[in-house]
Amino acid sequence: MKRTSKLFKWIGLVLGSLLGLICLALIIVYVLSNARLNKSYTIPAVALTIPTDTSVIAEGKRQFMTRGCVDCHGDNGAGKPVIDDPVVGRIVASNLTAGKNGIGQQYRAADWERSIRHGVAPDGKPLIVMPSQEFYPISDDDLATLVAYIKSLPPVDSAPRPRQVGPLGRILLVGELVPVLPAEHINHTAPRPQVVTKGATAAYGEYLAKTCAGCHGQGLSGGPIPGMPADPPYPRNLTPDVATGLGSWTEADFFQAIREGKRPDGTTLSTAMPWQAFKVMTDEELRALWLYLGTVPAKTYGNR
Ligand code: HEC
Ligand code: HEC
Repeated sequence: MKRTSKLFKWIGLVLGSLLGLICLALIIVYVLSNARLNKSYTIPAVALTIPTDTSVIAEGKRQFMTRGCVDCHGDNGAGKPVIDDPVVGRIVASNLTAGKNGIGQQYRAADWERSIRHGVAPDGKPLIVMPSQEFYPISDDDLATLVAYIKSLPPVDSAPRPRQVGPLGRILLVGELVPVLPAEHINHTAPRPQVVTKGATAAYGEYLAKTCAGCHGQGLSGGPIPGMPADPPYPRNLTPDVATGLGSWTEADFFQAIREGKRPDGTTLSTAMPWQAFKVMTDEELRALWLYLGTVPAKTYGNR
C-alpha cells in the first residue's frame, strides 16, 4: 500500500515537471515567434513604372497564372484560404483588388515591389507564407507587367482576413523548418536580373522553375511539403532520376503533362498540381523548363 502511493507520487512528480517543461517551451516559442512576426523591416523598395497598355495586361495575366499567384489569390484576385488548420494556423491570401478589404486602393508602386519581391507589407512587417523567396529574382520588366494586370482587376469586396499562426506554425517558424516568414529567407540586397533573356534555354528555364520549388522542393525531388498538414497526392520527383523522377520522360510527355494534365501512362494529374494555370505557358517557356529539368542533379523521390 505504502509502496504504491510512493510510486504514484513519483509518477505525479515526473508528469508535473514534464507538463511544466512543455508549458515553458511553448511560452518561449510564443515569445520568440511574436518578436519575429512583429519585426519591422526597412526595405529600399523600387517604385516600378507600371505600364498600362492592354497588350501588357494580357501578358501580365499569363504571368499571374504561370507564376502561381492565381493558386492562392484566386482567378479574381480576391484571395483564398492558404492554411486553415487550428494547430498550424489560419492564413488567407490577401485581396489584391481595389474592393472592400482589398489592398488595391492604398497600394503605391513601391508597395507592390516590397510585398511581392521582399515579402514585407507596407507597414514594414513580414508577410506570412506569401512565397516572395520565389519571386525575388523576377525581373523589373516582368514584375511591372504582372502588377499592371493586378491593377486592372475589377474590384471585389471581401471579408476581413483571419491571420493567425497556431502553435505548430510557431514551432515551424522558430525551428526554421519551413519559410513561414519568407522575408527572413531573402537576401534583400542580392543582385537581380534587370532584364531576363527569354528563349528556349536552360537558363531561362531555371528562372521560371523558381515557381516549382515551393511545392516540389529546392532540389525538385518532391515528397510531402514539410510543415503542411498531410494531404496527398504529394508533389512528384521532377529530377532526371529514372526510377522515381522524369528520367524516362520525353519533352512531348512533359508538354502533355502541363497542357493536358496527363502522364505518359494515361493517368491524370490532380489539381493539387496547378497545371490548369500552367497550361498557358508558351512552347518556349515549356521547352526552357524541360531543358532546365534535364540539368538538375538526379535525386530519388522525397529528398526535397
Ligand atoms: C502559396 C500561396 C501564395 C502564392 C503562390 C502567392 N501569394 Fe501573395 N500572399 C499570400 C498570402 C497568404 C498573403 C498574405 C500574407 C499575410 O497576411 O501576412 C499574400 C500577400 C500578398 C501581397 C500583400 C498584400 C497585403 O496584404 O499587403 C501581395 C501584393 C501579393 N501577395 C501578391 C502576390 C503575387 C503577385 C503573386 C504571384 C507572383 C503571389 N502573391 C503569390 C499567398 C500567396
Ligand atoms: C502548388 C504546388 C505545386 C506547384 C507550384 C507545382 N507543382 Fe507540379 N505537382 C504538384 C503535385 C501535388 C503533383 C502530383 C499530382 C498528382 O499526383 O496527381 C505534381 C506533379 C507534377 C508533374 C507530374 C510528374 C509525375 O511524375 O507524374 C509534373 C511534370 C510537374 N508537377 C511539373 C511542375 C512544374 C514544371 C512546376 C513549376 C512550373 C510545378 N510542377 C509546380 C504540385 C505542384
